[in-house]
Amino acid sequence: MAELIDGKKISTEIKDEVKAKVAALKEEGVEITLAVIQVGADPASSVYVRNKKNACAYTGINSLSYELPEETTEEELLALIDKLNADEKVNGILVQLPVPKHINEDSIIKRISPDKDVDGFHPESVGRLSIGERGFVSCTPAGVIQLLKRSDVKIEGAECVVIGRSNIVGKPMAMLLIRENGTVTVCHSRTKDLREVTKRADILVVAIGKPKMIDASYIKEGATVIDVGIHRNEDNKLCGDVDFESASAVAGKITPVPGGVGPMTIAMLMNNCLEAGLMQNGR
Ligand code: GUN
Repeated sequence: MAELIDGKKISTEIKDEVKAKVAALKEEGVEITLAVIQVGADPASSVYVRNKKNACAYTGINSLSYELPEETTEEELLALIDKLNADEKVNGILVQLPVPKHINEDSIIKRISPDKDVDGFHPESVGRLSIGERGFVSCTPAGVIQLLKRSDVKIEGAECVVIGRSNIVGKPMAMLLIRENGTVTVCHSRTKDLREVTKRADILVVAIGKPKMIDASYIKEGATVIDVGIHRNEDNKLCGDVDFESASAVAGKITPVPGGVGPMTIAMLMNNCLEAGLMQNGR
């Protein structure tokens, strides 16, 4: 049976580290503030936004909340971003995605100042990651790296296979694993013999968006399996992209869903807010 990688515990460790650093900065008179914008009232987005605000409260980061109606125009949203970009008291800006269809997501992402881009989605942040410069890294893949490091999984020299090539997870995940000296392969829907590739992996990161697709037959004995997926099954229970029961019989270490990657995303967002505050105060 595979050893569980406990994302809840590790995310709390990280939030506690952030909390201590935020408190120390406060002693020096430096406060950190995140502006969170939600357009419309998508119920899943509302849950994420609430969790982000709760994490801010936990770590001592101030949160400003902008709940805009569904009919908000792109111009209005861009104007709010401009105002927050110019506001020295705001260190980080986050627009919860997806935005309503009449708003162009790319225009929104590009309008957020790269200095306040705590999601790490701006092309400048993506570019910095790819050339190894200091900058914001997308929270979910950054969280996966922390799960691996804090569970004593050696990335250097390891065969790392990422399934999924999204801008938010797959691509930055590959970049981060390269930065950690892993040997990285990225698979996707057009990969010819997926099993043949995934069976080579010492570290397998699964972000395909298909419930329980990856079972034991895709996994090398003893491999570390990180499941980025989250879905509700027929019984309204949460599950991932990995068939946990099957996979945990062959994996060496594995993340559960829930309680694996999920809580790490918000912990890393808090870390990015701290980083934003540090950078903007010349540290
Ligand atoms: N929607 C789903 N995940 C995310 C995320 O990490 N950041 C933002 N802004 N929106 C999301």
